Amino acid sequence: MKIAVAGTGYVGLVTGVCLAENGHSVTCVDVDASKIEMMRRGISPIYEQGLSELMRKNKEKLTFTLDFKEAYADADVIFIGVGTPEKRDGSANLAYVYGVADQIAEVVTKECVVVVKSTVPIGTNDKIEQYFADRLQNRVKIHVASNPEFLAQGTAVRDTLHASRIVIGVEDAYAEKMLREVYRGFDAPLLVTNRRSAEMIKYASNDFLALKISYINEIANLCEIIGADIEDVTKGMSYDTRIGSKFLNAGIGYGGSCFPKDTKALSWLASYNDNEIKTIKAAIEVNESQKLKPVKKASKYYKDFRGLNVAVLGLTFKPGTDDLREAPSLVTVPILVDDGANIKAWDPVGCDNFKKHVPEGITYCETIEETLKDADICFIFTEWPEVKVLNPSVFVEKMRHPIVIDGRNCFSVKDIKGVPMVYESIGRAVIDNR
Ligand code: UGA
Repeated sequence: MKIAVAGTGYVGLVTGVCLAENGHSVTCVDVDASKIEMMRRGISPIYEQGLSELMRKNKEKLTFTLDFKEAYADADVIFIGVGTPEKRDGSANLAYVYGVADQIAEVVTKECVVVVKSTVPIGTNDKIEQYFADRLQNRVKIHVASNPEFLAQGTAVRDTLHASRIVIGVEDAYAEKMLREVYRGFDAPLLVTNRRSAEMIKYASNDFLALKISYINEIANLCEIIGADIEDVTKGMSYDTRIGSKFLNAGIGYGGSCFPKDTKALSWLASYNDNEIKTIKAAIEVNESQKLKPVKKASKYYKDFRGLNVAVLGLTFKPGTDDLREAPSLVTVPILVDDGANIKAWDPVGCDNFKKHVPEGITYCETIEETLKDADICFIFTEWPEVKVLNPSVFVEKMRHPIVIDGRNCFSVKDIKGVPMVYESIGRAVIDNR
C-alpha cells in the first residue's frame, strides 16, 4: 500500500512516521524546503519526544518531498494533515485543506482514499468529495474519509502508536476496507461511523476536555473564596470513576493549538446554524479570564510592576513542547513588559519561539537560579519537571522578595510549610510564612 501524507506538522508528521513504524511506505509532503531538508537528514522540525529516533529507525520507509505529484499521483491512501487555524470570526480556516485537495485533484491517476485528519467543521468531508467531483483531471474514483486525530503535543508518538481509539468516518465499503488495512498493526479500539459523526467526535471530545478544565478552574476560584483546597476536592471527585482524575488540574487556563481553536469553531458552527452551545461559550469565557489570574494575584503585593525584577518560569502552553500557541504566558508577560518590569524568563525549549512573539523587554536565562536572582516576584506559567523538583527554599535563597505566584500548582502546600516565603497558587489557601 502506498501512503502519502500532506503536511508535516504535529498531525501529519507523527501520523506518517507512526504508519512507517507499522510497516507502511509513506511519502510526506510539505511546501517548506528547509523542513524537507531537515527531515531527510532524520531531524524532526518539531520538538516531540521520540519522533526523531523513530524517523531515523524507519528512514527506509519514509520519503520527504516538496513534489506533491510524486507523492499523490499513484497513492492508495492520501492523508490530509495540514493546519486549520482560526479565522477572525472564530470559524476554521480551510484554505490549506482545499489547497491540498486542489493538488490531489490535479494529479491523481488511480482510485484512492483521501483521508481528512485535520480538524474540520462538520460537513467538510462531504464538501471535499463534491470539490473533487468538480475538479478531477483524470476520471478516477476518489473516496473521502474522516479520520480525526486525538494525539496531544508532547506525547504525540505514544498517543498515536497506542491510541485511545481510531475513529473512521466513511460512506462506502472501499474506504472502510482500505483504512482497516492502514491501521491493521495498531492495537486500539476501532470505531467506524459516518463522516459527520467522525467529524463531530473530534470537536465533541476536545470541547468536552476544555469544558472540564474551565469547570475545575471555576471550582478552584470558588475554593479560594470559601477556604477549600482544590487538590483535595479533585482527589475526592476522582474516586468516582464516572468523573475520573484526568483533566481536572486547575491552573491558568488551557492553551495550545487545539482547545482554544476548537471551542471557538464549534461555537461558531452552532451559531451559524441558529443554535447555541452555552456550555462551550462559558468554557471560552472562563478560560480567557483565568489567564489573567496571576497578574491579579500579584497586584495584591505590588501596586504596579514598574522597575520590579520579575522572574518567569515556563513560557510554553504546557510542558513537553516548544509550542506557544495561545499560551497564557503570551497574555501575561506583555502586560508585565508594558508595565515596565525587568523580566527574566526561563523555559527549557520555548525561549526562541517566545522571542518571535515578544521581541523586546525580556532577558532569557539558562538556569532557574539565574532567573530567580534578586527577583521581587516569581510567576510559574508551565509545570516543567525542572520546576516541580525544585526545593522551595531556592526561592528564599535567590529572590529579593520571595513571593511566588504558581499558576500550575507545582508544589504541595506541605512543601512550602515553614519556608519563609509567600506562595499563591490556584484554588488553594495563600501561604505567607514571612
Ligand atoms: C489536545 C487534546 O488533549 C488531544 O486529545 C487532541 O488530539 C489535541 O488537543 C488536538 O486536537 O490536536 P494538546 O492541545 O496537545 O492536546 O494538549 P493538552 O494536553 O490537551 O493540553 C491543553 C491545555 O490544557 C494545556 O494548556 C494544559 O496546560 C491545559 N490543561 C490540561 C489544564 O489546564 N488542566 C488539565 O487538567 C489538563
